[in-house]
Amino acid sequence: MFDPYVIRQDFPILGRSVHGKRLIYFDNAATTHKPRQVIDVLVEFYTKHYANIHRGYHTLSQEASELYESAHDVVAKFIGASSWDEIVFTGNTTDSSNILAYSWGMRNLKEGDEIILTVMDHHSNMLPWRKIAAIRGARVKYVDITSDGVLDYADLEEKVSERTKVIAFPIMSNVLGTINDAKRIAKIAHSVGAIAVADGAQSVPHMVTNVRQMDVDFLLFSGHKMLGPTGIGVLWGRKDLLEEMEPFKVGGGTIEDVTLDNIVWESIPWRFEAGTPNIAGAIGLAEAVKYLSKIGMNNVEKYEKELVKYTFDKIRELGDEIDIYGPSDLSLRGGIVSFNLRGIHHHVVGMLLDTYGVAVRTGMHCAHPLHYRLGLKGTVRASYYIYNIREEIDVFIDALRDIIKRRAEFGGGFSNIDSEKCTSG
Ligand SMILES: Cc1ncc(COP(=O)(O)O)c(C=O)c1O
Repeated sequence: MFDPYVIRQDFPILGRSVHGKRLIYFDNAATTHKPRQVIDVLVEFYTKHYANIHRGYHTLSQEASELYESAHDVVAKFIGASSWDEIVFTGNTTDSSNILAYSWGMRNLKEGDEIILTVMDHHSNMLPWRKIAAIRGARVKYVDITSDGVLDYADLEEKVSERTKVIAFPIMSNVLGTINDAKRIAKIAHSVGAIAVADGAQSVPHMVTNVRQMDVDFLLFSGHKMLGPTGIGVLWGRKDLLEEMEPFKVGGGTIEDVTLDNIVWESIPWRFEAGTPNIAGAIGLAEAVKYLSKIGMNNVEKYEKELVKYTFDKIRELGDEIDIYGPSDLSLRGGIVSFNLRGIHHHVVGMLLDTYGVAVRTGMHCAHPLHYRLGLKGTVRASYYIYNIREEIDVFIDALRDIIKRRAEFGGGFSNIDSEKCTSG
């Protein structure tokens, strides 16, 4: 097992304070901080090797191209892909989802087809499929959750049919923390000839990922949620499926040849990486992957589960004052704890926690349908990563206890902040 106290020394931002208190960063599901190793590799790239890729025979362009290409390989190995060219670099998970829904959907969906999503999907892996469904005349169905916040597999079995062409789902819910059984869902999809699209935005940063073992067809995730820079994401696809897809975003870099009346698309993955890509982002992501691999994703998962267990043990001390969402069986959840304090608006709780130095996310976390399904206007979400420690959870729980004591000062009177806006979740 790794030592989180040693890990913390790699993260310069953890040295800062907020409102005179030591920063406790529990907003990792929104985005994570960057270790010095990732920051350094970006500085090194920009100061020593920077140039555009695949566009010149000069030394800098060759060096940048090599670094960018090898980043594909590093990421491919990290998720158990068969080869480097199954990795398409995108802007983020949202971008991956849009590229996939249009590139695959325009070719493969027709009127009467069905797409199955889940009520726990993040908007990023829900709206692109809804949009392409509307364009192609396909129908969308939603798999429900059980009262314990687990995906309702019986409902999925009932909704799937020969008309199903896509099942898209999150491997881990960004609100409930629920870890879904990707292999089981992929098996159900394949039993009717549908593709299984796994949103790994919350799972790839936190647990071992092996696309071949899960047997899914596509996987999407974001670099910024796993210690990498912003603006870099991944769309992994099974090679045969990627090869038969035409790109949705087109332009420079996507073609092998163009005449005024013909286009020959470039081979994968370049066909899907239109324009000058986020070269530095990809190199930074590769460094983040190397950093995580050194720790071992098994260790990351195990450690975060320990933090969640510790939180649950401590949070019980708050008694009836708190409602926690998601599976009560902790083995079914990752490092996310969403809750509400009774009688205090979630945004108020978030603002107050900030005064104790604790950064959490509040709102609907880009999962409005899930909140409506739960009958909630929002939640407070604490989400952990490798640099969080038990002492921080102690401060967090003490702060909640304090806020509860002071509830009379804050309860009610905040109806003007009911409206929710989705930024990133
Ligand atoms: C489950 C899930 N899917 C997709 C996304 C979208 O990620 P991004 O904003 O990096 O595109 C998020 C991020 O918040 C998420 O939690």
